[in-house]
Amino acid sequence: MAPSPTDEERCKSGVHGLDEILQGGIPRGGCVLLAGGPGSGKTILSSQFLFKGALEQGEPGLLVTFDESPESIRKNMLRFGWDLAGLEEENKLRILDLSNLIYLTPEEFQKTAYGVNVPEFTIIGAMNIIRENVKELGAERVVVDGVTSLSVFEADEAKKRRNLAQLFRGMRELDCTSLVTSEVSLAQSDREHQLEEYLADGVLLLRSYLKKDYIIKSIMIEKMRGISHDTQPRPYTIADEGFIIYPSENVF
Ligand SMILES: Nc1ncnc2c1ncn2[C@@H]1O[C@H](COP(=O)(O)OP(=O)(O)OP(=O)(O)O)[C@@H](O)[C@H]1O
Ligand SMILES: [Mg+2]
Repeated sequence: MAPSPTDEERCKSGVHGLDEILQGGIPRGGCVLLAGGPGSGKTILSSQFLFKGALEQGEPGLLVTFDESPESIRKNMLRFGWDLAGLEEENKLRILDLSNLIYLTPEEFQKTAYGVNVPEFTIIGAMNIIRENVKELGAERVVVDGVTSLSVFEADEAKKRRNLAQLFRGMRELDCTSLVTSEVSLAQSDREHQLEEYLADGVLLLRSYLKKDYIIKSIMIEKMRGISHDTQPRPYTIADEGFIIYPSENVF
């Protein structure tokens, strides 16, 4: 049997059951895509990863939000007892709000603090802002929540692909363990794979199944480069303690 991975090799996720199905934790330095439908728990799982990482592992975390406002995230996570604002005050966590920038016209963008000498919002520009914040905070964990929003206004398919590729390359160069969330509709089993699934080092898929007369939520590791891991979908719930995966239960 292979020896258990060390703490230098793996990052403890802080999510009940996730390290078990990963057989030791998230590979350090990797950029993992967390893909699922609306309300599947992407923001909860990724906030848990940062909150527990900062509190229990002493690893500062940066949460970059492209969708939900920081106020809303702080309020929602407090319901699980996760005081993000408290960690922010201690400089163990930072929420970087890039959510409004995407929706601004170039003229409006130039009026923001980020718009000085920069004509419009770009992925490279966003990566520079992220990099500066990682450095300032000494972040070891990074979450980019809502990467789908980045492509919303981009009609040119080639440009969309280039943007995503730039984002994943930039994330990998941060030298942090990172999660990137994206909206993927997983209703159909013969769905087309999204480009971000190929670009990421690992992919966690959240999907729901109708079982008899109730919905069962499942998480599956679609891929995780460089490690062996569980390959079956496993049930999960969202409860008072947050995101909980049941590693030894079956979905089917
Ligand atoms: N305290 C709680 N107890 C149980 N379930 C909860 C609780 N809080 C939230 N949820 C569930 O989690 C869902 C929201 O999770 P989250 O915001 O992480 O989803 P998401 O995948 O990020 O969604 P979106 O795509 O809209 O950003 C809610 O729709 C609800 O089903
Ligand atoms: Mg969300």
